[in-house]
Amino acid sequence: MPAREKLIRPEAASVLVAADHQGKSIPVWLVRDAQGLGEIPLSDAQKAWVEAQGFKGAARKHVLLPGENGRIAGALLGLGPATARDPMDRPEINAGLLPTILPPGLYHLEGSIGDGELAAVAWGLGAYRFRRYKAGNGEGGGLQLKVPAGADQARATAVLEGVWLGRDLINTPASDMGPQELEDAARELAALHGAEMSSTVGDDLIANNFPMIHAVGRASTRPPRLIDLKWERQGGSTSVPRVTLVGKGICFDTGGLDIKPPAGMLLMKKDMGGAAAALALAHMIMASNLGVRLRVLIPAAENSVGGNAFRPGDVLVSRAGKTVEIGNTDAEGRLVLADALALADEEKPDTVLSFATLTGAARVALGPELPPFFTDDDAWAAQISAAGNRGGDPVWRLPLWSGYEASLDSAVADMNNVSEGPFAGSVTAALFLRRFVKQARRFAHFDIFGWRPAPKPLGPKGGEVQAARAMYDLLRAELG
Ligand code: BES
Ligand code: MN
Ligand code: ZN
Repeated sequence: MPAREKLIRPEAASVLVAADHQGKSIPVWLVRDAQGLGEIPLSDAQKAWVEAQGFKGAARKHVLLPGENGRIAGALLGLGPATARDPMDRPEINAGLLPTILPPGLYHLEGSIGDGELAAVAWGLGAYRFRRYKAGNGEGGGLQLKVPAGADQARATAVLEGVWLGRDLINTPASDMGPQELEDAARELAALHGAEMSSTVGDDLIANNFPMIHAVGRASTRPPRLIDLKWERQGGSTSVPRVTLVGKGICFDTGGLDIKPPAGMLLMKKDMGGAAAALALAHMIMASNLGVRLRVLIPAAENSVGGNAFRPGDVLVSRAGKTVEIGNTDAEGRLVLADALALADEEKPDTVLSFATLTGAARVALGPELPPFFTDDDAWAAQISAAGNRGGDPVWRLPLWSGYEASLDSAVADMNNVSEGPFAGSVTAALFLRRFVKQARRFAHFDIFGWRPAPKPLGPKGGEVQAARAMYDLLRAELG
C-alpha cells in the first residue's frame, strides 16, 4: 500500500513565493476581450503570434508568448466576456486554471486582478493533484507564483495547506482511511500545532455515553470513535470565544442494513468529507493563531453491514437522553453528529459549526457546487453567504423550517431519525441536528457534497473541501 504523503504536503506551500522574490518570473495576463489584448505590451512578432493563433480572449483559451531566446516570455489566459451575475467568474478565480495549462516555471500576474490573495489561493487550489496511487507519483509540480503585492502569503499558504489536507483525506480510499487513520491524521495535526487530542474508541463509547456513535459503527471490523482535539490561541488574552467544529467522519457509508444500491455507494469514501472540512478549517485557524479556543469533534465510524449492525426499528438512547427510533440505517450521519453535538453543547460554546455530507437531498436542491447551510441567526447567515461569495467558496442558506419538525415524530420514541415523506430531506436532517444544540450562542450546519464531479478553475475532479475557506475568512474578520 503506498504510504500516505505528509499530512501537510510541502508542495502546498511551495506553489507560492514571496512578492519580492528575486527570481525572474514570467508575466501572465488575464484577458477578457480584444480591447484587453490591445493593452498588453507585446512586440510585433508576439502580436503576430497571438493573432496567428486566433486568440481573442475567449474563455479558457491561452497562448504562450515566445521570447527572442526561445524561452517563454509570457502567457495569456482568456476569460471571455464578464458575466456579472456569476460570483465565480472573476479573474482571480480563473487564475486557478493557470497551473493546469502552464509549463513548469516561476510566474507572476500582470494587470489589475482584483483580490490578489484570492488569486494566489486559486492558483494553489488549481495546482492540487492526488497522485498517491499513480506510478511516478513524485512527478508534476515545479509551478510557482509570486504572490501579488499586498497579498498575505502566510495566510494564503495556511488556506492551501488546509484544503490540500482535506482533499487528500477525502481522496484516500476507505481501505486506507478508516476511523483509525482519520484519528491518526487528527493526532498529527494536533501535534503540529501543539493541540491536545484524545479519542474514545469502541466499547469506551458506551462507557462514556456516546451510544449512537457506537451503534452506527459497531458492525465494522474497524472500531468507531470520537476524536476530540482542543487548542488555544498562543499568547494574548485568554478570554477568547470558544469555537467548536463538528465534522461527520463516516469513513465509508454502505447504508448499513438499509443498504445502498451500487451507484449510491460508489463515492461513499467521501462520507468523511465533513471531518475533512473541519480539519482543514482547524489547520487554517491554528496556523494563523486566530483568537479562539478551538475544539474539533469528529465522530468517526464506518456504516457497515454485519450480524451486529443496528437495525431499522431499533430505538437508540442518545447522549442527550432523547430516544431515537431508527427509520433508516442510512440516515447514520445525523446519529453520530447528534452525540458529538450534544457533547459540544455541554460547554456552552460561543460558536458551533457542523460540516457533513449529510443528505442526497441537499444535492437535489442545489447541486454539487453550492452546499446549503442552516442557522437561526439571520445576521450571521448574511455574513456567511457574503464570505462564501467573496472567496469563491459559495454556500446557500436554507431554512430551519419548524413546520417540518413534526415529520420527525415517532410512535415509539422521542423522535425518528428520518421523516416519513420524500420532502425537504436536507431541512429535516438539519432540524434533527438542531434538537441537540441548545446552549451554544450560535450554530450553523453545512450540508456539503465534499466532491467536485468535474474539473473547474479551483480544482480537479475529486475530493473537495467546502465551506471551510468561507468560515475561515469570516472568523478571521470577526476575531483577527
Ligand atoms: N452520506 C449520505 C448522504 C449523501 C449521499 C451525501 C450522496 C452526498 C451524496 C447519508 O448518510 C445518507 O445516506 N442519507 C440518506 C438519508 C435518507 C435515508 C433519509 C439520503 O440522503 O438518501
Ligand atoms: Mn447514509
Ligand atoms: Zn452518510
